[in-house]
Amino acid sequence: MSQYNIKKFAVIGAGNMGSGIAQKIATEGHPCILVDLDDEKVERGMNIIRDLLAQGVERKVFRPQQVENILSNLRGTSDWSELADVDLVIEAVFEDVDVKRSVFERLSKNCKDTAILATNTSSFYVRDLVNAVTHPERLIGLHYFFHPAKNRLVEVIGHEGTSPEVYAAAWASQEAIGKTPIWSADAPGFVVNRYFVPWVNEGVRLLGEGVANLATIDWAAKKAFGVGMGPFELMNVTGVPISMHAANTLGATLGDFYAPGQALVDFCATGERNWDLEGEVDESQYDAIADRMLGVTFYVASKLVDEGVASVEDTDIGARVGLRWPAGPFEMLNNAGIERSRLLAEAVAGSYGLHLPKMLVNAGSHGIPIELVSLNDVHGVGEVRFNRPATMNALDNTMLVQFDGKLQLARATGKPFVLRGTGKAFVAGADIKFFVDSLNNDNYSAIAEFAGYGQKLFATLAGGEHATVSRLHGLALGGGAEMALSTDYIVASPNAVIGFPETSIGIFPGLGGSQRLPRRIGYPLAKYLLYTGQMLDARTALSIGLIDDVADFAELDATCHSWAKKRSVEVRETPTACSNPKLQAVWNFFDQYSVDEILSGEADCMGDPGLEKAVKRMGQKSYHALKLCEALFVEGAHLELDRALELESRDLSTAFNHADAIEGLSALLEGRRPNFQQPAFA
Ligand SMILES: NC(=O)c1ccc[n+]([C@@H]2O[C@H](COP(=O)([O-])OP(=O)(O)OC[C@H]3O[C@@H](n4cnc5c(N)ncnc54)[C@H](O)[C@@H]3O)[C@@H](O)[C@H]2O)c1
Repeated sequence: MSQYNIKKFAVIGAGNMGSGIAQKIATEGHPCILVDLDDEKVERGMNIIRDLLAQGVERKVFRPQQVENILSNLRGTSDWSELADVDLVIEAVFEDVDVKRSVFERLSKNCKDTAILATNTSSFYVRDLVNAVTHPERLIGLHYFFHPAKNRLVEVIGHEGTSPEVYAAAWASQEAIGKTPIWSADAPGFVVNRYFVPWVNEGVRLLGEGVANLATIDWAAKKAFGVGMGPFELMNVTGVPISMHAANTLGATLGDFYAPGQALVDFCATGERNWDLEGEVDESQYDAIADRMLGVTFYVASKLVDEGVASVEDTDIGARVGLRWPAGPFEMLNNAGIERSRLLAEAVAGSYGLHLPKMLVNAGSHGIPIELVSLNDVHGVGEVRFNRPATMNALDNTMLVQFDGKLQLARATGKPFVLRGTGKAFVAGADIKFFVDSLNNDNYSAIAEFAGYGQKLFATLAGGEHATVSRLHGLALGGGAEMALSTDYIVASPNAVIGFPETSIGIFPGLGGSQRLPRRIGYPLAKYLLYTGQMLDARTALSIGLIDDVADFAELDATCHSWAKKRSVEVRETPTACSNPKLQAVWNFFDQYSVDEILSGEADCMGDPGLEKAVKRMGQKSYHALKLCEALFVEGAHLELDRALELESRDLSTAFNHADAIEGLSALLEGRRPNFQQPAFA
């Protein structure tokens, strides 16, 4: 077990960032101390949190009881001796290196020997603080984004002396508090600000050069990047001096290309607060503006990857998760085409005497490869990672093709491997939009092809000499849960959730789930899960044998690796009895009654509120889909798994060609309740 098992957190600085970070930690159920200079400042920070939570209750994001629980995890104090038993301290005080150093000196005196000390600095290097701590191996950067209680992105930055164990523990702690961590070198602006600050600054330069007025620049930037705010509106929201400071800092280290545009310098000198966003939009200037802003983004993103600051994938994740751009710089670059992207980047970089980054020069005609699924060797175990957190790693054709490639590579290594997701989901299912688009275009064959391909892949995943493990650290739904069922072992964090919501959208699990699930947990419980869409937490899933182990975040990787080093499972016996006494009534009920008996009211719930609720939920599902599931269970039970899986393919067209499928899928996309066809007896 790692000596850095992070259970208790502290945040130093109860300002905008610190209070939000503490709020998020407490919301995810972890104890956190919030520290500031004096009690008044602590109280101000606590009040920011209370106000935000109260607004959450008004907007029905939280129930009052939840807010009470969150607040009970938080303690505000100005007494630093209370930091003695804290495992991870996150510093979020003023952006002043001397203030930060004094904080770290004090932390080194007050914290225990295994405490990890993190800085949320935006503009200094992490290594600038090394001399202020007694144990540099326990110093790390955790760079959050505003608003840190809502924005999931965090850049995790080690300096040269950060120990790998500390890095891994800090990373795991961020997953435990629901963040999406990305790796960053200890470099100016880390990952996202490195290209985002120049993006804003390019708007300023376009204004200064008189290319267009400010309203036109904002309009064109929004259109070109598919974002909600242009650079000037954004500066007004986040504070113009912050943009000035950020560009100044990058410019001082990286050169003139990054320095603030003159129009920004001049504006700040006026002392005015906000840019005047009014003005007539001149649409004729769109191309001139879009090309420049895309060029800057392509140049800087490629440059930072060239320098080893971040990977292509993390650069894109940063934009999608941290900035909520609909596509990352490299996705946009590939969409624009490599030739054009090179020209755009060259045009902006060339005017500062800068050369094209090597990766842009060397890119082939297909552009920059983006590994939506990656494979890495970690201590002799392969880690196959799904890298699309903004869509919860939903499976579409591109993901499947990449997964296929990595699966073959992983098998070729002759080593066991672990599947894991980035962000808050393992894999949240298949890409619903792809289904709806295909149905709307009457392109059923695209769906059949997708499902056939997925089924084949999952079958390949299931067969193999070396063990495969699914690491569930968040949501595993639908296709994601089916993928996990195709691996030998499933290990989950305590907050993982697993479920099969297919009948809610008029279909059935078509990637092996209808046959693998009952073989793993027994037919009655499989019926219960598929018919009602009931999600299971990790502990309940463990109690019925759906998963094999539950481990805290700090131990999750090590636990997955130890399962991976076991042998592959030969055959699992289908359970014939219920292993969780709390689910015995459910087992008996679904063992005894058919879908029609349940829905027509013939089945006897014996006043059991749990069963009554299950029946009610079944009434909200697609009857057509329920009947298909039932038929698959009945027929499949008598067949070998290989043959049983063929039944799914056979019934796929029946499911997708039914009106309930298009209704269920559309309703999900539109965020409304589906209106399914009712059974004759309803
Ligand atoms: N604001 C952002 O969008 C953003 C984003 C990422 C990172 N950051 C970084 O986060 C840090 C904090 O930024 P902020 O916007 O929350 O600042 P802020 O001014 O809102 O809050 C800073 C807090 O630190 C407290 N403080 C100052 N010196 C202290 C000390 N010696 N001990 C304890 N508390 C002390 C202050 O009283 C204040 O409450 C900065 O390093 C900033 O660069 C900010």
